[in-house]
Amino acid sequence: GFVVGTAVAGGGHHLEQDYPDPFTYDKEYRKHLGRQFSSVSPENQMKWDYIHPERDRYDFGQADAIVEFAKRHKQVVRGHTLLWHSQNPAWLEEGDFSQEELRSLLHDHITTVVGRYAGKIQQWDVANEIFDDQGKLRTQDNIWIRELGPGIVADAFRWAHEADPEAKLFFNDYNVEGVNAKSDAYYTLIQDLLKQGVPVDGFSVQGHLSTRYGFPGDLEGNLRRFDALGLETAVTELDVRMDLPESGVPTEAQERKQADYYQRMLQACLAVEGCNSFTIWGFTDKYSWVPVFFEGEGFANVMTDDFARKPAFYALRDTL
Ligand code: XIL
Repeated sequence: GFVVGTAVAGGGHHLEQDYPDPFTYDKEYRKHLGRQFSSVSPENQMKWDYIHPERDRYDFGQADAIVEFAKRHKQVVRGHTLLWHSQNPAWLEEGDFSQEELRSLLHDHITTVVGRYAGKIQQWDVANEIFDDQGKLRTQDNIWIRELGPGIVADAFRWAHEADPEAKLFFNDYNVEGVNAKSDAYYTLIQDLLKQGVPVDGFSVQGHLSTRYGFPGDLEGNLRRFDALGLETAVTELDVRMDLPESGVPTEAQERKQADYYQRMLQACLAVEGCNSFTIWGFTDKYSWVPVFFEGEGFANVMTDDFARKPAFYALRDTL
């Protein structure tokens, strides 16, 4: 039951100028995607701005293609994501909607998108990144929480569950690998929601790590405390970025450290009973979001630009 996944590149802001859609046009990419993984996550293709580009129009093209691909390759799919502060279309963020309208927009969106893929999505990131690093709810930049109050989060889980009772419904975030203010906030909120009977099934850590910072050593303990609530846990977006080397080629020491981080993430997940899904955020540096989003850092994935396997690839393989 343990699956190893990758994000499927496409639609990223960082890709649009440089590459045609890799999932569609890169044969070698698709070969590795089909062979090396048992789970796939759309990197962007199920986000609001891609799947719901206009108020009265959905665009399922790319998302459908990924779900089809997964079926052909006997892979499961992680849906990402339904309620988030980022990558929402301008028509939504800049629209002038009443509370009732916003509520029904979210309800329709969740019902439509989750319903379309009912039975085909193993886990959904229902709510993504709803807390800031201090563990405060994002009451300013998250349109749903700002306009409708925190109760909308529970409703999103209820609506998703109605649309697909089989999908496991997750909270997902970054900087929650260890025990800290932010993961504490999730721990408290989820306990509260479970008491109210809200259908929350899982808590997942993204795992966007950097070798600049230390490895989150209490990851396993953190996963365990959510496990003890009866939840599934998962690693959903692992990549390990490093400082760009002057020579343009990472040193052996850098690659070893990176491999070690990848391996320890996997070991922690394997050690926790309900951690049954482990996903890396893309497998090749060729299409990584990292160089565009983190100045001076890169080489975050387990394969190089030309799909050569790095020590991190072998570290994962040998740990499985
Ligand atoms: C990133 C994608 O990788 C990029 O292509 C896109 O331009 C921006 O978003 N947390 C998440 C992911 O939950 O959806 C983000 O993905 C990375 C951080």
